[in-house]
This record gives sequence, structure tokens and C-alpha cells, in this order.
Amino acid sequence: MNTHKDILDNLKTVCQCKGIKKGAFKKLIDEGKTTPGELNKASGAGSGDCQGRRCGPRIDDLLKSHPRE
Ligand code: FES
Repeated sequence: MNTHKDILDNLKTVCQCKGIKKGAFKKLIDEGKTTPGELNKASGAGSGDCQGRRCGPRIDDLLKSHPRE
């Protein structure tokens, strides 16, 4: 069952170029991804038009604020 926070995370876009939501990154972190490089490789983030200039800092912040479950 989705919590209210899960629903919001699935609406919040972290990588705008690729349309990848916060919830997708949190799922990858929970599956064991621990670095920005691993998240980018698994999700495709960082390979859009901006080459990660917009989403890179957000992904760094997410890794700090969402410890693996
Ligand atoms: S916002 Fe993620 S590659 Fe541009």
C-alpha cells in the first residue's frame, strides 16, 4: 500500500530531462545503489540534455537524506 509520502515521491520529478521521479530513485537506493554513478547508470539520469547539471545536486541530496532501508 502506498503511503501519502510515496504518492508525493512518485509525483516529484528529480531528473527533468528523463522524467525520473523521486520515488524511482528511492527504490533504487533501497535496492542497494549507494552512489550517484550507480543511480545514474540504473535509471538513465544524468544522460539527458543537461548532462546531469540539474539533477546531479538533487541526486546527491537524496542519497544523503534517504538512507537505505
Ligand atoms: S535533469 Fe537529469 S539529465 Fe538533465
